[in-house]
Amino acid sequence: MIIKNEVTVGGMAASVPDALQVFQKLGIDFCCGGKKPLAEALSEKGVRPEKFYELLEAEKVNRKESTERTDFTAMSPSVLSAYIEDTHHDYLRLVLPEISRLMLAVIRAHGKNHRELFEVYRLFGQLKTDLEQHLVKEETMLFPALAQDGAPNQAIGNLAAEIIDEHEAAGELLAELHKVTGDFAIPPDACQSYRKVYALLPELENGLHRHIHLENNILLKNFHCRHMEVTEDER
Ligand SMILES: [Fe+2]
Ligand SMILES: [Fe+2]
Repeated sequence: MIIKNEVTVGGMAASVPDALQVFQKLGIDFCCGGKKPLAEALSEKGVRPEKFYELLEAEKVNRKESTERTDFTAMSPSVLSAYIEDTHHDYLRLVLPEISRLMLAVIRAHGKNHRELFEVYRLFGQLKTDLEQHLVKEETMLFPALAQDGAPNQAIGNLAAEIIDEHEAAGELLAELHKVTGDFAIPPDACQSYRKVYALLPELENGLHRHIHLENNILLKNFHCRHMEVTEDER
C-alpha cells in the first residue's frame, strides 16, 4: 500500500479524528509535526501503511461502542474558536496556576534531594508565561480576525505564523521537561504533591497536543508558512 505524498499527518488527524489515538500510540507528533507527510512519519516509526490502517480500523470499532466524534472540520472558524476557548483555554487557566502552586511546594520539600526540580520549575514557569500571553493573543487578535468574513490578508497570515511558532516553542519546552524529568518518572521518595505534579504534566501535554492540533491543522490550515502569500483558492 502506498500513501500519497500530499497526505499529511495533520490532514489525516483533521479528517479522521480516530487517527489521533493511533498517532498517540505510535508516538507520532500530530500537532506541531502535522505538516509531515504521513508516509514519512510512519516509516520513521517503522510502521507499514497497512498496519496503520489496521490500527485505525480497530480504533473506530472500539470507539463506536462509546461515542461519536465531533467533526471539528465542519465548524466555522468562530464556532471552532469558541469551542477551543471554552474547553482548552479554560482548562489551561485552571491547571497552569495549580501546577505552579504545587510545584513550588514540591521544590521546598524535595529540591535539596532532587536538584532537577529547579530546572523543572524554570521550564514550567516559562511554559506557563508563554501560554498565558498566547491565549490572550488568540482571544483578542487571532480568533476575532478569523471570525471576520473578509478575505485572508497578510496581517492575519503574519499573526497566524507567530501563533504557529509559539506552538512550536511550547512543544520544545515540553520536550525539555520530558528530558529533565525522565519522562515524568516518579521517584520512590515522592510525596503526594510530587506525584500529583508528575500526573498533571503529561495530562497538560496531552491536552495541549489536541488543542494545538485543532488550531494548526484545522483553524489555521490555510496559514502554513511564515510570511505566506494567501491565495483565494487556498481558502
Ligand atoms: Fe489556543
Ligand atoms: Fe494556540
